[in-house]
Amino acid sequence: MKFFIDTADIAEIRELAATGLVDGVTTNPSLVAKTGRNFLDTIAEICDVIPGHVSAEVAATDFDTMLKEGEKLAKIAPNVAVKVPLTPAGLKACKALSDKGTPVNVTLCFSAAQAILAAKAGATYISPFVGRLDDIGENGMNLIADIIEIYASYPDIRTQVLVASVRGPQHVIAAAKMGADVATLPPSVLRQMFAHPLTDKGLAAFVADWAKTGQSIL
Ligand code: E4P
Repeated sequence: MKFFIDTADIAEIRELAATGLVDGVTTNPSLVAKTGRNFLDTIAEICDVIPGHVSAEVAATDFDTMLKEGEKLAKIAPNVAVKVPLTPAGLKACKALSDKGTPVNVTLCFSAAQAILAAKAGATYISPFVGRLDDIGENGMNLIADIIEIYASYPDIRTQVLVASVRGPQHVIAAAKMGADVATLPPSVLRQMFAHPLTDKGLAAFVADWAKTGQSIL
């Protein structure tokens, strides 16, 4: 299972990349707006730090402009994945970009029917938003299970299931149990995944007992 980081904050990305556990990055216009930085410069900088796919989202909603934006974003670095919304125009742009070999992440997926269309359009990634479904009283992880089951019936589908809008480690565990290809994690969720009070307590005891030995390994 691949882990992407869901942020446009370059300081966070550098810090978490150092763990060696980050396979890629997803951004969206809201995350970019939070940084207050220039979008194109930010994507270029992230692509230098992370060798895996870095999703950069188009801003337009019409096909022609989306395509032009996607082509421009794809030129920033070879590891850019152009992110398009799950709309008729977005999927048309997905098809056009994918046909030319540009990786595309189709975002804002909230149903299995939408995920089927994205696969037909040649998406590299489909991004179902589990947290936002949970927020409205639906079960986001049920959608992931449905998409994985459907895609598994068609070996020619190469689209990877990228679990998005992740709210905590429990979403990641559930996604891993289902065999999702990727989860994109807010930095806080990746940090939470390391944490367990018994790890901290156990380590404190080991450190204290080791000090009593008066020894040094090096
Ligand atoms: C995915 O690519 C999106 O950027 C993201 O996961 C959205 O998450 P949110 O629902 O927490 O905004």
